Amino acid sequence: MDLGPDIDAASDLDFDTALAMLAWQVELGADETLSETPVNRYEAARAEEARAGEARAGEPRATAPRTGQAPEPMPMAPPQNDGPDPVAAAREAARAATDLPALAEAIAAFDLCDLKKGAKNTVFADGNPAARVMILGEAPGRDEDMQGKPFVGRAGKLLDRMLGAIGLSRSGPDAENAVYISNILPWRPPHNRDPEAAEIAMMMPFVARHVELAAPEVLVLMGNTPCAAVLGRRGITRMRGKWTEAPELPLPGLPVLPMFHPAYLLRNPAAKREAWADLLSLQARLKGQT
Ligand code: URA
Repeated sequence: MDLGPDIDAASDLDFDTALAMLAWQVELGADETLSETPVNRYEAARAEEARAGEARAGEPRATAPRTGQAPEPMPMAPPQNDGPDPVAAAREAARAATDLPALAEAIAAFDLCDLKKGAKNTVFADGNPAARVMILGEAPGRDEDMQGKPFVGRAGKLLDRMLGAIGLSRSGPDAENAVYISNILPWRPPHNRDPEAAEIAMMMPFVARHVELAAPEVLVLMGNTPCAAVLGRRGITRMRGKWTEAPELPLPGLPVLPMFHPAYLLRNPAAKREAWADLLSLQARLKGQT
């Protein structure tokens, strides 16, 4: 990945430009310092593959040789193994949790999702569990992983401002004006990559139980991942602002509002206009005007 001008050019940069370049790299996912010298992991993977190929000499080649292209995406189906079925195990653990603290404990104790191994914290929820509005995002990012709370980074700050504009807050003790916030995945995917279908599938029983126990009056889905997970559909540009229901959740008839993810709004400020319309729609619904 080309992360910007070379070092010589960078040494002439003024402070503001250097800061903007750094922010841009963080936006791209280069948000942790691992080493002072760059490592080309694609090369390392190719060298590893070549070594494995030599070791397998004489066996038929299972895959076409790599030609320098980016690695193929991970398979979406759950890996086949002889261990416990992670979805069934999650269903059982979620069902056994009879309140939100028990559910938080059950998720933190769930060891069948590999994301947990790379995460610093399990991110369960923030806000007022008695709130009328529950918001579901995608997964923790770097800041959320460090702090153990959802939506505390740049996108979260924008989310707080958006909610504040219609009189809602995650910190207010008054359930009437409060929100309760969680994510589909409680652990940060490495390098903020997209969640995989198998990861979503195994955490969905916990999400469904979370919604059931919090029992909000309204559920807001931020972006494509929660829409795909909860509604089984993607296409946030078409879906946003259109109230719907989630028959797969244990609360039949719960009104569900898909909205743009605040991280998308940070990259596409022009879409804030639509987000504002959706916030007004949420406000009207809470006031019983729709
Ligand atoms: N994006 C999300 O979807 N969730 C978070 O908690 C933070 C960023």
